[in-house]
This record gives sequence, structure tokens and C-alpha cells, in this order.
Amino acid sequence: MGEYRTGIGWDVHRLAPGRALILGGVAVPSELGLEGHSDADVLLHAVTDALLGAASLGDIGMHFPDSDPRWSGASSDRFLEHALRLLTEKGYRLVHVDATVILERPKLKDYRAAIRESLAATLGLELDRVSLKFKTAEKVGPVGEGRSAEAQAVATIVRPEREPS
Ligand code: C5P
Ligand code: MG
Repeated sequence: MGEYRTGIGWDVHRLAPGRALILGGVAVPSELGLEGHSDADVLLHAVTDALLGAASLGDIGMHFPDSDPRWSGASSDRFLEHALRLLTEKGYRLVHVDATVILERPKLKDYRAAIRESLAATLGLELDRVSLKFKTAEKVGPVGEGRSAEAQAVATIVRPEREPS
């Protein structure tokens, strides 16, 4: 059966004019985009933390400090790929990712397939192993007022039992 573990990830970024809205590596047309040191892909950051959490590997800021000019404007695919490599090196395999993006506008449902496919490709997972949900914040709080976007993710990983020697 192996050892199954789960990890949780969460992230928030401010929305601002003159920035791209990149979610799961996909550019979504929007008046406002996400502000941050990297490309500010809130979804990939939450998924990266979920992967790191499942393998007890710390958090994204430990691996990619936002004070480091190397990560200025970086594509967040690199963070996710790095986390995946680290957990693979510990003997784990990624089984499933479930994520939610909380954003008031624009509507994201027309981009669900593209974002999900992009996420699955980066994670090296078949589509059925990647779940993606969208929510508004019902006009309440900073997300609901359109000032920020949040993402949450849960990752499941497994380490196969070692054959007795
Ligand atoms: O937040 P709420 O429950 O009102 O969301 C209703 C539906 O709108 C959800 O099924 C979700 O997929 C979609 N949605 C979306 N883009 C958003 C927020 C929600 O497509 N930014
Ligand atoms: Mg972030």
C-alpha cells in the first residue's frame, strides 16, 4: 500500500493594474493582474506549498526567497517543478492535487480546461488526478472587493513500500 501523505497550501496576491493575471501558467484576460516578485501565480504557489508540505520540505519562501533577484519575474512553473523534483528524490510519487482559486472577477470557468491541462502537464499527472475549483468571495472582504486573489491546494503523495531485502 505504501505510505500516503497529504499537504496543504495557501497563497494570496494583491490585484493591480498593469499586471498579467497568470493562473496555473495560463494568462487569463483581465483588467487587473496579480502583483508579486515572481509572476505571482497564486495557484501554482499554493500547489507548490501543498507538495512541499506533503513531503515535509518546508515552504516556498525557504526554497525561493523573494529577496533573491534570481526569482524576480520568474515563471512559477520553476517553483513547482523544483518541489516535484525534491519529493521525487525523497522517494515519493504525486497521486492527486485538488485546488481552489478564490477570485471575484473575471469569471474563470471558460479557462478551467486550459488551466487544468497546464497544471497536469507541469505536474506530470493525468487530467483525472488534477481537480480545479473556482469560487467568488461573495463580495465580502479583500477578495470579495476585488483587491486580491487567493488559492488553496491539497496534494496527496505516496511512497511505495520497500521490498524486504
Ligand atoms: O462563488 P460562487 O459559489 O458564487 O461561484 C459560482 C460558480 O462560478 C462556481 O461554480 C465557479 O466555478 C464559478 N466561478 C468562476 N470564476 C470565478 C469565481 C467562480 O467561474 N472567478
Ligand atoms: Mg505567491
